[in-house]
Amino acid sequence: MKKTTTIALLSSALLASSTALASADKLTFYCSAQEEWCQVMANGFQDATGIEVNMTRKSSGETFAQVKAESSNPKGDVWWGGTGDPHLQAAEEGLTEPYVSPMRGELNDWAISQAESAGDKTIGIYSGALGYGYNSDLLKANNLPEPKCWKDLTKPEYKGHVQMANPNSSGTAYTTLATMVQLFGEEDGFQFMKDLHKNINQYTKSGSAPIKAAGRGENTIGIVFMHDAVNQAVSGFPIEVVAPCEGTGYEIGSMSIIKGARNLEEAKKFYDWALTDEAQSLALGVKAFQVPSNKGAETSPSAPDLSSIKLIDYDFKKYGSSDERKRLLKKWDDEVSTLPQ
Ligand code: F6P
Repeated sequence: MKKTTTIALLSSALLASSTALASADKLTFYCSAQEEWCQVMANGFQDATGIEVNMTRKSSGETFAQVKAESSNPKGDVWWGGTGDPHLQAAEEGLTEPYVSPMRGELNDWAISQAESAGDKTIGIYSGALGYGYNSDLLKANNLPEPKCWKDLTKPEYKGHVQMANPNSSGTAYTTLATMVQLFGEEDGFQFMKDLHKNINQYTKSGSAPIKAAGRGENTIGIVFMHDAVNQAVSGFPIEVVAPCEGTGYEIGSMSIIKGARNLEEAKKFYDWALTDEAQSLALGVKAFQVPSNKGAETSPSAPDLSSIKLIDYDFKKYGSSDERKRLLKKWDDEVSTLPQ
């Protein structure tokens, strides 16, 4: 009896000291999904573990550049969200750490193939199709026809009415560029980007900014992931969501542990937690309508149904490779962004 009491006392003391230790633990979290979701993930993990989270939100390409710039003295521990291509490039360039989570069995195949193509240095956390959205009030006010296809966006009547992000900073815009190259072939894909350039009113830093501007009535058409356009529509803005008629590309939003993470154990805990159905279901509370990678996580009825959208067979490995991503971005910088409008 006495022995049992001593063991019980000892283990509760141990638990108390490990809780005290845990509450002193820290995690530096780089986030490339939408700000509200990043916030909820940071708070949710902090509440679940007592680990103090320091979160920074930046676009996919920007976070990649930061992780690379800090590689000799890493400051971040885990990078969650953003399109998969810069995560794959980071894996190839040795900027991230391999990790096989015990949660892997609960994930969809597309999330696991992302990990397998990168030597387990990244993994899929959500997916979503590319498309565009338009402000129907502005379209009417400008007497413009409803666009249905990618090629519609290059017609002269839409001059000054289209916005997209810069593919160097934004994963959404890089996915757009890589999609056009895969959908139309390299020559015609770049020709499309050049024709589109004539109609672009601004290249933003963040991928979802063009549809937020459309929601506010400051822009007519925004090229974005369809879930970001749905977010504006369900928030009450006059936004129509388009799955372009030619077909479209999609993303596998990803997560990676940064090589040389100062808080490696905490990063692994976050990684495991972020793959749970419970953590992934937090998306619904912030109107994040991506498809979750955990098969048991909830998907909103408002989320775009990927099975009803004409998706291309997107080559994630090729377009996430360091050489190809650098080559396409340089070509866009040299041949598209410098053209007069
Ligand atoms: O707003 C959410 C989201 O579209 C994610 O689905 C995507 O991974 C991320 O933003 C890309 O953001 P950015 O284009 O700014 O890199």
